[in-house]
Amino acid sequence: MKVLITGGAGFIGANFVHQTVRERPDVRVTVLDALTYAGDRTSLDPVADRVELVVGSITDAPLVDRLVGESDLVVHFAAESHNDNSLNDPSPFVQTNLVGTFTLLEAVRKHGVRFHHISTDEVYGDLPLGTPDRFTPETPYNPSSPYSSTKAGSDLLVRAWVRSFGVQATISNCSNNYGPYQHIEKFIPRQVTNLIDGVRPRLYGAGLNVRDWIHVEDHNSAVWAIIEKGRVGETYLIGADGETSNLDVVRALLETFGRDADDFDHVTDRPGHDLRYAIDASRLRTELGWSPRYTDFREGLAATVDWYRENEAWWRGAKAATEAKYAASGQ
Ligand code: NAD
Ligand code: DAU
Repeated sequence: MKVLITGGAGFIGANFVHQTVRERPDVRVTVLDALTYAGDRTSLDPVADRVELVVGSITDAPLVDRLVGESDLVVHFAAESHNDNSLNDPSPFVQTNLVGTFTLLEAVRKHGVRFHHISTDEVYGDLPLGTPDRFTPETPYNPSSPYSSTKAGSDLLVRAWVRSFGVQATISNCSNNYGPYQHIEKFIPRQVTNLIDGVRPRLYGAGLNVRDWIHVEDHNSAVWAIIEKGRVGETYLIGADGETSNLDVVRALLETFGRDADDFDHVTDRPGHDLRYAIDASRLRTELGWSPRYTDFREGLAATVDWYRENEAWWRGAKAATEAKYAASGQ
């Protein structure tokens, strides 16, 4: 089987490529990635002999048409993925997340190729703090940011292409991922690399916002379960019951580094900051028999800290510019 993986040089995509190469010797992998600031070809170094990397954009229709025509399956990770960036400049989010997904859908429609669309729980907006409510596949869409609204729009394009054109697609909406190869602009690797540098972690606002953390390996095993056993046209929510406040994440990291529990700074909050995400993954667990392997968040976090300690060469080059961008917003 020949699989085209878009965004395969990014965080989740690169981990998906590694997992696929490791566990599925019958699969031939082509990655299509524009290598934006978030893409890094060295993330594919450990599997370079098993993967073809095509550097290009998912908005490039002739390129997409050719690559999709040569594939049996497209797994679509490529996106502009960071909320804070979308608040500073939404334009690339509209291009990549909406126009790029449209371009891929037109190609899979033409060539009759199976498509899996990777999306986010943020399409559902947020939940109140301190309630038992969780997102389900029936929760109405209510995105808050330019990032999440373009992801919501991309999901709706996929649904329309399934219904109107019979495209063979599935969608997954996952909660917050952590693990190796995550860009240091994101919450956990930003604080980990700050702590490695002896800098205090930075919490937006009071730090009471809650995210539902899942290890990237568990996200990716769920994606394969959906591709192999999921029903075409269906949406699956992926989560591993990992609800944790940002404050508790920072406290766990401070403990790992042997630092005082209050050794962090509160900084300017994110405009429109979603309060809480929580996933009900019953459909995935009962229908497809999936379950996560990383059930101890503290353990997964400690392994992730070790990875950033051992792979400084991978992230060091981006650190100063990433922090300069945050400093300009008082964060
Ligand atoms: P990332 O920012 O780390 O990686 C995105 C990748 O897409 C990069 O390699 C980048 O170069 C590539 N890319 C961007 N624009 C492109 C374009 N026009 N053409 C081709 N490639 C392009 O993102 P991530 O965190 O790995 O997220 C991957 C997917 O998973 C996204 O669709 C995101 O919405 C979704 N998602 C992420 C999370 C999370 O916690 N990170 C959770 C749920 C869903
Ligand atoms: O829920 C899935 C989403 O998770 C994905 O769709 C996005 O691609 C991914 O980036 C992530 O979005 P968040 O906005 O939740 O992730 P981020 O890592 O930016 O922030 C996590 C939380 O931490 C959020 O409440 C904001 C807060 N935060 C973030 C940074 C960078 C801080 O308190 N301090 C920080 O320095």
